Amino acid sequence: MFSCSPNSEHAPAADVSEIDKKVDSLLALMSVDEKIGQMTQLTLDMVCYGEPYALSEPHTIDTAKLDVVINQLHVGSILNCGGHSYPREKWLDMIGDIQRKASKTRLGIPILYGIDAIHGVTYTDSSTLFPQQIALAATWDTALVRQLAEMSAYEVRASGIRWNFSPVLDIARDPRWPRFWETFGEDVKLASDFGEAMVQGYQGDAIGDAHVAACLKHFMGYSVTLSGKDRTQAWIAERQLREYFLPTFERAMDAGAMSIMINSGEINGIPVHVNKNILTDLLRNELGFEGVAVTDWEDIKYLVTRHRVAATYKDAIEMSLAAGIDMSMVPVDLEFPVLLKQLVLEGRVTEERLDLSVRRILKMKYKLGLFETGVPTIADYPKFGSEEHHALALKAAHESIVLLKNDNLLPLSEGAKILVIGDGANSLNILNGGWTRTWQGADPQYNTPDRATVYEALQQHSDNVQWITEQEFLSMRMTQKYDCIVAVISESTYTEKPGDIEDLSIPLQSARVIDKLDYLQLPSLVLLIEGRPRVLPASIEKINSVMLAMLPGDFGGEAIADIVFGKFNPCGKLPFTYPRHASSHTTYDHKYTDRIDTDFSQNAFDPLYTFGSGLAYTTFAYSGLQIERNELGMDDTLRVDVEVSNTGNRAGAEVVQLYVSDSVATITPSVKRLRGYRRIEMAEGSQQQVRFDIPVRELAFVGQDLKWVLEPGKFSVQIDTLVIPFTVR
Ligand code: BGC
Ligand code: BGC
Repeated sequence: MFSCSPNSEHAPAADVSEIDKKVDSLLALMSVDEKIGQMTQLTLDMVCYGEPYALSEPHTIDTAKLDVVINQLHVGSILNCGGHSYPREKWLDMIGDIQRKASKTRLGIPILYGIDAIHGVTYTDSSTLFPQQIALAATWDTALVRQLAEMSAYEVRASGIRWNFSPVLDIARDPRWPRFWETFGEDVKLASDFGEAMVQGYQGDAIGDAHVAACLKHFMGYSVTLSGKDRTQAWIAERQLREYFLPTFERAMDAGAMSIMINSGEINGIPVHVNKNILTDLLRNELGFEGVAVTDWEDIKYLVTRHRVAATYKDAIEMSLAAGIDMSMVPVDLEFPVLLKQLVLEGRVTEERLDLSVRRILKMKYKLGLFETGVPTIADYPKFGSEEHHALALKAAHESIVLLKNDNLLPLSEGAKILVIGDGANSLNILNGGWTRTWQGADPQYNTPDRATVYEALQQHSDNVQWITEQEFLSMRMTQKYDCIVAVISESTYTEKPGDIEDLSIPLQSARVIDKLDYLQLPSLVLLIEGRPRVLPASIEKINSVMLAMLPGDFGGEAIADIVFGKFNPCGKLPFTYPRHASSHTTYDHKYTDRIDTDFSQNAFDPLYTFGSGLAYTTFAYSGLQIERNELGMDDTLRVDVEVSNTGNRAGAEVVQLYVSDSVATITPSVKRLRGYRRIEMAEGSQQQVRFDIPVRELAFVGQDLKWVLEPGKFSVQIDTLVIPFTVR
């Protein structure tokens, strides 16, 4: 689709055995030091003037430092930005300098440069920023996400970079976790489908000139710590690891993902960076993954300074190599290669062990065409930040917004008199979240020019929009009448450790805003712009309309205003369960015991909004659920038909969701699991027959022996409120 071929006459060698031959002959020429260098990744800060995390402005490559890093330490990989985004010209200059230096070394091995381009190429000024992953998941539109990833890959390439630390394939089953929004939500199937689509989009059918390598992260079991806080201990039994946390990675590996990044945390007392069961037995021997396994940020050193499973940095390096890492994201010291060399000289790490990893890294460099094509020019990528790309990002923002409640308030008429409340209403940063132009995404000085905040976008539909802070609203006497009060409840931007919270509830001041709207019975829309489902006060039930925008990106303001004024019919569906109370965050696919309440009724599972829910300005009705046969063998396909009608007076999109329940199993069954879904566009008053073909084998679970098993017995299929039982023999 994005047919850019600045150097197509040098299309990278696709023939794998050809690449293997090249790797072998190159490896044969390499010294131990050169091999160790390939396994070393430093942050850009290490080759710039100034100190890491405190570079001198404007960031400039220090050629003396670059010389040490490339000529003396033979470093093979560099990552990240020096703290904030750069114009494309600057990227091409810097990467050009780095690659030129590498090309003049004895073997001329190019540098593998990596970047966190997680919702567009976040660290290049004026790139196209689309919704963050959690918002993308709300579209239930995998084809769209593949297109976005393809577009993003193009813009990454336009910045001279070929390795993207994306997608996040962790499953978000605890809303306290500060990286909730970086995932595709709580469901294993939905997240697996999106992960596969994103890898396909990034890597394309061939890397060519417009694709990049994906990096699946964070392998694995990163998202469910006991405390809900980033990089704290997790206890996850192997059965649950395999059933809930492994499938996304497995699917993305089958789709050809070239690399993975390792989970910084510990599982069951063992930091994943030293876990040979996960990094070798499972990853290599069982899954057969042949790509590159890179550590996360400074994680070998953290084995000493945080986890305390190693007494010295040198021991930690030995341990993580024994476990199975290929490349160390060092990234802020120069000791790693020196200590690894000592380990080799002392016989604690063999040269064969180095070869194993270096082979994988070189192979990736060949596959990416790094040996054949150099740094592009600005003119090579005319579609960077283009109207065409903007249109796709806007489409995604539109589809990602979820209308959770609407009692006859929305859509508003053009020109409506609106009072907007809250700081988040006039911030582009709040719409984008973390990993936007900077790590934490909070600094407005790098924002994309000309993109509208919510307040600005609403003004494009009405001259009668007033904006005030929460505090102002709380002390205000309501003397005027408004058609709608839009209370923007937002989180500040964050990722990783800085995003840890002590309380899932929204701040007291925001809760008081909602209480006041309810008390005065004002016509109100509560607009949530947040990276995780923050708990709302009970008064939310009395508010007319509730809309969830998660982190819709640079085009979020425009998309929200389009929905508020009815220019776009909302169609997003929740990819997670929205809790009602701060300590009740049970997922939709919970167990039957999770339903038992204090009065022994079955009502304990009572979220504020359910997984898969989301309204439109039209209504859909379901009828005629049918299954082809109610007795099936294990190798059969469950064929299900249902009729969907658009019963309202507007065209709209619906996501038809199919759930299956297993009535009895040797591992307690979930009350239901999502097994199929289809996003359909429907004209007003139209009807559509939707068919699903679900292989019966897909109803399996991980059994007591840790293997996938399907047990015969009674099941039922559910679409909307329609249910039909069937039997598997
Ligand atoms: C994060 C990763 C990221 C890496 C490189 C780490 O702190 O956990 O998700 O890819 O930094 O920036
Ligand atoms: C980097 C991030 C990294 C973080 C970890 C930041 O300075 O930009 O990529 O994840 O440090 O400490």
